Amino acid sequence: VVIEAIAAEPKPLGSYRELFPVTHDRAYLNHAALGVGSTRLLGALAEHLEQHAQLGSGATIQWQAQRVRLREKMAAFIGAQPGEIAMVKNTPEALGIVSNGLSWQAGDRVIISDLEFPANAMPWLKLAEQGVEVVTIHSVGGRVPLEAVIEAISPRTRLVALSLVEFSNGYRNDVKTIGDVCHQRGALLAVDAIQALGPLRVNVREQNIDFLAAASHKWLLGPPGMGWLFCRQELIDSLDVAMVGQGSYARDATTPWLAYDLPLWPDARRFEPGIPNFLGIAGLEAVLDLLFEVGIERIEDQVKHLTDRLASGLLERGYRLAAPRDGGQWSGIVSFSSENHASADLLARLEQGGVSVALREGLIRVSPHFYNDETDVERLLALLPPHGA
Ligand SMILES: Cc1ncc(COP(=O)(O)O)c(C=O)c1O
Repeated sequence: VVIEAIAAEPKPLGSYRELFPVTHDRAYLNHAALGVGSTRLLGALAEHLEQHAQLGSGATIQWQAQRVRLREKMAAFIGAQPGEIAMVKNTPEALGIVSNGLSWQAGDRVIISDLEFPANAMPWLKLAEQGVEVVTIHSVGGRVPLEAVIEAISPRTRLVALSLVEFSNGYRNDVKTIGDVCHQRGALLAVDAIQALGPLRVNVREQNIDFLAAASHKWLLGPPGMGWLFCRQELIDSLDVAMVGQGSYARDATTPWLAYDLPLWPDARRFEPGIPNFLGIAGLEAVLDLLFEVGIERIEDQVKHLTDRLASGLLERGYRLAAPRDGGQWSGIVSFSSENHASADLLARLEQGGVSVALREGLIRVSPHFYNDETDVERLLALLPPHGA
């Protein structure tokens, strides 16, 4: 696809700050929980609702064209082909298409970690009903030990399901290496990428990912209700399609509605049984255009810069970081705690000081994005009580 925005002269990063009204009075550092709306998102949603009000069904031709465009942009964003992308509602729905779609046999194994958000645990644990055994890799010092994951991949392992970035502490799994070992040993790799997509470069081919699940309302700064499923083309036929409707089957504008004997779409559109979330499509296209315009490399560099500053400022003040950041392990999430100060008290102090963060599993979780700057990070650090003299 040609993303027109790329051709334009890059604007300074700082100029994007004004697109985010939240920056007027808050340091919003909570993108791992929920992204924040921009004027670009607002404009796109307003335009869509205006078309809805003015045209009703007369708008659907342009909305369908937007859906085709968006699928191309989603694919380009993660190095996939458009036919490998299904637009779903959220992350667990995407993972459920995989967990319900593969055919399992008693004794098959799935590997997860003890840091997975329920979205990437429950779909696999539910397979116990079919005799599938879930092997949980225990984290050590905030890491999901790569060596332990690799050792656990046995001939009985059908699939490894890990987050690219773990939600509570921001630990980044080396999915490329894990995917490589999976493929050598005949297993598949499913990745929950919701905490990575946006701040980090993700490429499904380079990272050996078979299935990727995510949603748009966190780091993509998009609307809720726009989930992503990537399914590698060769695997599409291996998934049973649990829910079908008019949208699952290959039809064009001339196909009668009462024709029931149609083949499934040969691609991931078969996982979209009915009318799509056109409002969400409008919103997601606007924010993906924004991210393409800024440039994913610049976004990643800025997130690295801000999280590095945050991590060093926290250590200087005597706080403990929850996960290692060296090598390729850093991410957009920095989580910390203190020996002397309760996390709930720290959260309240930050909230009162106009800094938005989250409390997750006893940790203060900070998650800045590309439009944040050093003033936001310094505002947070200045609110934190010191440790002793
Ligand atoms: C790693 C991870 N997976 C999945 C989810 C939830 O997915 P969704 O919001 O698409 O339902 C979250 C939300 O916090 C998450 O952190």
